[in-house]
Amino acid sequence: MPTVKEILDTMDYGPAPESTTEVRAWLETRGTFGHFIDGAFVLASDSFATRNPATAEVLAQVAQGSGADIETAVTAARRAQPAWAALSGHERARWLYALARHLQKRARFLAVLETLDNGKPIRESRDIDIPLAIRHFYHHAGWAEMAEAEFPTLAPHGVCGQIIPWNFPLLMLAWKVAPALAAGNTVVLKPAEQTPLTALAFAEICAEVGLPAGVVNIVTGDGRTGAALVGAKVDKIAFTGSTEVGRMIRRATAGSGKALTLELGGKSPFIVFADADLDAAVEGVVNAIWFNQGQVCCAGSRILVAESVAKLFTERLTARLQKLRTGDPLDKCTDMGAIVSPEQLSRIRALVAQGEAAGATLVQCEGQLPAQGSFYAPGLLMGADPANPASVEEIFGPVATLTSFRTPDEAVQLANNTRYGLAASIWSETITLALDIAAQVKAGVIWINGTNLFDAAAGFGGMRESGFGREGGREGMEAYLKPSAPPRAMPEAAAGGLDAAPMPGAPSAGQPAIDRTAKLYIGDKQTRPDSGHSYRVAPQGREIGLAPLGSRKDIRNAVEAAHKAGSWGKTTGHNRAQVLYYLAENLAARQAEFEARLTEMGADPSEADATIRRAFYYAAWADKFDGAVKSTQSAKVTLAINEPWGVMGVVCPDASPLLGFASLVLPAIAMGNRVVVVPSTSMPFAATDLYQVFDTSDLPGGVVNIVTGAKDELAKTLAQHDDVAALWYVGDAQGRTMVEAESAGDLKATWAIGNRDWTDAQGRDFLTRATQIKTIWVPYGT
Ligand code: NAI
Repeated sequence: MPTVKEILDTMDYGPAPESTTEVRAWLETRGTFGHFIDGAFVLASDSFATRNPATAEVLAQVAQGSGADIETAVTAARRAQPAWAALSGHERARWLYALARHLQKRARFLAVLETLDNGKPIRESRDIDIPLAIRHFYHHAGWAEMAEAEFPTLAPHGVCGQIIPWNFPLLMLAWKVAPALAAGNTVVLKPAEQTPLTALAFAEICAEVGLPAGVVNIVTGDGRTGAALVGAKVDKIAFTGSTEVGRMIRRATAGSGKALTLELGGKSPFIVFADADLDAAVEGVVNAIWFNQGQVCCAGSRILVAESVAKLFTERLTARLQKLRTGDPLDKCTDMGAIVSPEQLSRIRALVAQGEAAGATLVQCEGQLPAQGSFYAPGLLMGADPANPASVEEIFGPVATLTSFRTPDEAVQLANNTRYGLAASIWSETITLALDIAAQVKAGVIWINGTNLFDAAAGFGGMRESGFGREGGREGMEAYLKPSAPPRAMPEAAAGGLDAAPMPGAPSAGQPAIDRTAKLYIGDKQTRPDSGHSYRVAPQGREIGLAPLGSRKDIRNAVEAAHKAGSWGKTTGHNRAQVLYYLAENLAARQAEFEARLTEMGADPSEADATIRRAFYYAAWADKFDGAVKSTQSAKVTLAINEPWGVMGVVCPDASPLLGFASLVLPAIAMGNRVVVVPSTSMPFAATDLYQVFDTSDLPGGVVNIVTGAKDELAKTLAQHDDVAALWYVGDAQGRTMVEAESAGDLKATWAIGNRDWTDAQGRDFLTRATQIKTIWVPYGT
C-alpha cells in the first residue's frame, strides 16, 4: 500500500476542461465579423483571421479597418456625442449599469472567448480579467451618477480614439470605454489584431442593451488601422501598448491639440529583502511573471533579492518553477497557457537568446509542453548583469531575470536602473523598510508584499518611458474631462528682443543708457552665459537693456543644479509654504519697485500685485494638496500620493513677464519640483530681477534656475533633455508642436498651451499638472 507521502508525490490532476460549446456556436453563426459602427455591424472589404494561439486554429474572420472605416466611425461618434453628453449623469449611469449587468450575465461566455482568442488560462480570464472588467463598468457608472456634483467645472473631450493591446483584451477595453462614456465622451476603439473577439462580443452587448447608436464604435484591424485612428479628427487618443508605438503616437499627435494618455511598457523590479516572507514572495513571482505568461506590462520581470537569502530564495523559486503546469488554457488546472502569437513567441525566444549570449543562464521548467500551439516554458535568467539585454528590454514573456543586491541603497539603484517606471513589487516584513523603498523607487504603481493588484478605484499608469496619464479612480475620470470654460486666449507680446542679432558685451555707445545687464541665475548664483553673448532687449522697439543669451550648455548646467537641489522635494509642505510666504512678503515690500520696472518695460504694473497674491495662494496650497486613500480590495489600503515630477522645464509666455512667470513657477515649486525657467524673451528682466527676492526668501539655490535667451531654442533643449521629467511651454502653435514632438524621445509629460489671460491662472489644475500620482498598495487589516 502506498504511503500518504507517496500518494501526494505521485498524484496528478485529472483533466478539467471548460466547455466551449456556447462560444463555438456563437462564432459559427457570426462567421465573418464586420466593424461595429453607429450601432450596427458593417462588413468591410478586407478581412483577416484571428486564431487560437493554443492550437493555431482559425476562430473567425475579422474586418481589416481602412482609413475610410475609421472616418465613418469617427463621424458616427461625433454625431452621437452631443446628445450623449447632454444626458444627465444619472442617465449615463443607467446605461453603464446596464452594460455591467449584461457583461456579468455573460461572464462565463466572455471568459471562454477571451481564453480561446488570447491563450491565457481560463482561471485567469474567469477569475481576474472578466470580473475586473465588470467592476470597471460598475465603478464608472457611479462616477457618471456623480459627474455633475464632482466635476462641475469640467466637460468631456468629445470623441476619443482608443487603441488597446492583446494582453488583457476585454479588461483594457473596460479601462478605456467605461471612464470615457461616464464622462460624456463617445468612442472609437481599436482592439489588438491578435485578440479582437471579446471587443466584438462587447459591441453586441452594446446593441443588446440598446446603447444609443454611435456612442461606442469598434473598428478592428492592425497597426495601420491604429495609425489611421491616431490621425483622425478625434479629440483624445488613449493608447496602451509598446513604448515604440507610444513614441510614434506622441510624434504624430504633436501640435494637434489632441489630449493624449500613454500606458506603455515596463521592466518592473520585484525586490525581495532578507526579512521577507520568502514563501509568499515565491508565490508573488509566480503571480507576477508566470501565471500570465509574463504578458503583463507591469510584470515584475527583474527579480532583485537580498544576497543573504538569495540562495534559499532561488532554491524555493526554482523548485516551484518545476511544478508549473503549462498547457491547455481551457483546462481549469492549467497554470500557464499559450503565448499570444507565433510572432510574440519568436520575440521572446530571440530576447532570451540575447540574454544568454550576454552571459545569463536560463533555468526553465522541464514539464512537457503541448506539441502544437505557441507555448514557452517558464523560466529564470540567472546572472544577467544590469547591461544584459534581458535586464534592459521588455521580454513580455514568462521569463524573469534574477540578481542579488547587498544593501537597500543598492536595491533602489538597481530598481531604478531602467528607462521604464511602470510598477514595482517590494517584499519585506519591516514596514519602515518597505515604505522607505516605495518612496524611492520611480514607478507609478507599487505593491508592498503583493503584486499585480488592480482595481477600478486605483489609478494605474507609469512614470518615465512607461508613459503618462492615469487610468482608474478619480484621476482616470479627470483624464477624460477638460475645463468646460477654457481660459481666455491672449495675443502674445511681439517678441522684440531677439529680432536684433545677438551682440557681445555692453550696450554700444549711443544706445539708450539704461544699465540692464542681467545675468543667468543657475544654482545659487548669478552667472554669465556660456556663449559670452547678450541680446538686445527692446520691447516695442525701445531698447531697455541687454539680456544674457543662454545656450544648450547653460540649460544643461541649470538642469544639473536643479538635480542637486533634490532635498526641496523631500522637505515638508509646511517648510515650502513658509518659504513661499516669505517670498510673498519680500515681494510685497518691493512692490513699488517691481511696478516701476514693469512700467519701464511696457508691461502692466498691476502684475506685481497679482504676483504677490499668487505667491500667498500657493504658499497656502503647499501643505494641502493631499493625495487620497482608495477603496479597493479588502485587506489592502491603496494610497494615491501626489509626488513632484522632480526637475521641470518651464517656458514662459512673452507677454505678462512677471505674472506669467509666477503663475507657472509658483505651483511647480510649491509641490516640491525644481525648475529650469526660460522667462519672457522680450521682457526678461521682470523675472531676472526676482533672483534678489529668491535670495532673501530662503529659497534654496537650484530650486529656481533662470536661463534667458531664444525661447524655442532653449525649449527644444529642455524637451530633449532626459533628466527633465516634465515640461510646460506657453507659446505659438509652431513652438507647441516642436515641444511635443521633441519630448517623444524620453516620453516626458508636456503641457503646451497658447498664451492666455494670466489674471485668473491659478488653481488645482496647476497643482495636478505639477505632480504625478504614485499608487501604493499596502497590506491593511484582514
Ligand atoms: P503594439 O504596441 O504594436 O500594439 C498595441 C496596439 O497598438 C495594437 O492594437 C496595435 O494594432 C496598435 N498599433 C500598432 N502600431 C500602431 C501605430 N503605428 N499606430 C497606432 N496603433 C498602432 O505592440 P505589439 O506589437 O502587439 O507587441 C510588441 C511589444 O510591445 C511586446 O513584446 C511588448 O513588449 C510590448 N507590449 C506592451 C504592452 C503593454 O501593455 N504595455 C501591451 C502589448 C505589447
